[in-house]
Amino acid sequence: MKALVFHGPGKRSWDEVPDPKLQDPGDAVIRVDAVTICGTDLHILKGDVPAVEPGRILGHEAVGTVQEVGPSVTTVRPGDRVLISCITACGRCRFCRESAYGQCLGGGGWILGHRIDGVQAGYVRVPFADTSVHPLPQEVGDEAALMLADILPTAYEVGVLGGRVTPGDVVAVVGAGPIGLAAILTARLFAPSRIIAIDPSGARREAARRQGAHIALAPGENPEGRVRELTEGLGADVAIEAVGLPGTFELCTRLIRPGGRVANVGVHGGPATLHLEELWIRNVTLTTGLVDTHSTPTLLRMLAAGQLDVSGFTTHRFPLGRMEEAYEVFEQASKTGALKVALSRT
Ligand SMILES: NC(=O)c1ccc[n+]([C@@H]2O[C@H](COP(=O)([O-])OP(=O)(O)OC[C@H]3O[C@@H](n4cnc5c(N)ncnc54)[C@H](O)[C@@H]3O)[C@@H](O)[C@H]2O)c1
Ligand SMILES: [Zn+2]
Ligand SMILES: [Zn+2]
Repeated sequence: MKALVFHGPGKRSWDEVPDPKLQDPGDAVIRVDAVTICGTDLHILKGDVPAVEPGRILGHEAVGTVQEVGPSVTTVRPGDRVLISCITACGRCRFCRESAYGQCLGGGGWILGHRIDGVQAGYVRVPFADTSVHPLPQEVGDEAALMLADILPTAYEVGVLGGRVTPGDVVAVVGAGPIGLAAILTARLFAPSRIIAIDPSGARREAARRQGAHIALAPGENPEGRVRELTEGLGADVAIEAVGLPGTFELCTRLIRPGGRVANVGVHGGPATLHLEELWIRNVTLTTGLVDTHSTPTLLRMLAAGQLDVSGFTTHRFPLGRMEEAYEVFEQASKTGALKVALSRT
C-alpha cells in the first residue's frame, strides 16, 4: 500500500510500504476511505513531537471499512464502516474506566500516527478495536464524520465543557483555526449571548463569523477593550485558548471577568507566564486537557440528527493518492485558505 511516512524533521514522503497485519487479538485492520491532516501532523514534521520516530506513518483522523478483526473483537466485523478516532482506549485501565481515554495506561491514548503507524495510508491496524472505533450510521457521510475524529471532540470537551460555557455567557475564542471554529460551533449548543473570536487572519475571522461568532477581531483591534465594552467593564465569562502561544494564553487570562474561566486547548511548545500576582484575587478557573473523545458518541448522534452543521470545515478535497499535494495546501493555509483537507479513496 501507499502511506505518508515521516522521515525525520522536515521530511515526509508518500511511500510504498507493507500492508498492516493483525498483531494482537483485539486489533482490527481497516481500509482507509477518507482521511484528513491535522495541525499536529505539522508539529510532528517540525520535530516538535520527539516520540514520533522516523519511519512512522502519520495521521490520526480517518473513516474506513473494517477488513479483518482479531479473535477477541466482538462489536465490529468486516464490512463495517467506522470512525477511526485520534484516541484509542484499552477500556480497562483506571483512566479508561473514568472515560479519560486520552490518559489510557493500557497502551491506548493518542497512539495512531504517534507511537504506532497512523491512518494516512491505504490501510491501518487499530488496536483495542472494540473500544476505539465508532460504527457510523448511514446518514453521516465520510467527510462530516472526519470532523469527529479530533477537532469537534477536542474543541467541545477541552474548550466548551472545560470552560463550562453556560447560557447567556460571553465567550471569547482566541484562535480561529479548525479547533477554534469547532469551539465556536459547539459553544453555540449552550446559547451564549456573545461569542468574540480573535485571529490575525482575515479569512479565519470570516470563517468565525460564518460559524456564528458575533464579533471577530484581529489581535491589534484591542480585544480586551472591546470585550470590556460588551460586558460593563467586567470581561468575558469564558476564554478559550485555541492557538498554543504564551501571548494568547496570557491574553485569555486578561480577557475574563472575576470568577471567569480560561480553557486552554492549544498545544504549547514552551512556557507561558501565569500572572498570579494579578490573578490570585480574581477567583479565576484555569483548565487544560488532552482530548478524551468521551463526547464522540454524543456528537455523532447530533451529527446524524442534523443538529451540527460541519459542512463549512472542509475547504479542499483530493484523492488519497495526492497526499503530498494535500499536505502542501494544508501547510500553506494562510495562502490557500485551507481549514480541513479531505482525502478519499474514491
Ligand atoms: N488539547 C488537545 O487535545 C488538542 C487537540 C488537537 C489540537 N490541539 C491544539 O489546538 C490548537 C489549535 O489547533 P488548530 O488545528 O486550529 O491550529 P491552527 O494552527 O490551524 O489555528 C491556530 C489559529 O491561531 C491563529 N493565531 C495565530 N496567532 C494568533 C494570535 N496572536 N492571536 C489570535 N490568534 C492567533 C492563527 O491565525 C490560526 O488561525 C493547536 O495548538 C493544536 O495543536 C489541541
Ligand atoms: Zn488531529
Ligand atoms: Zn486504558
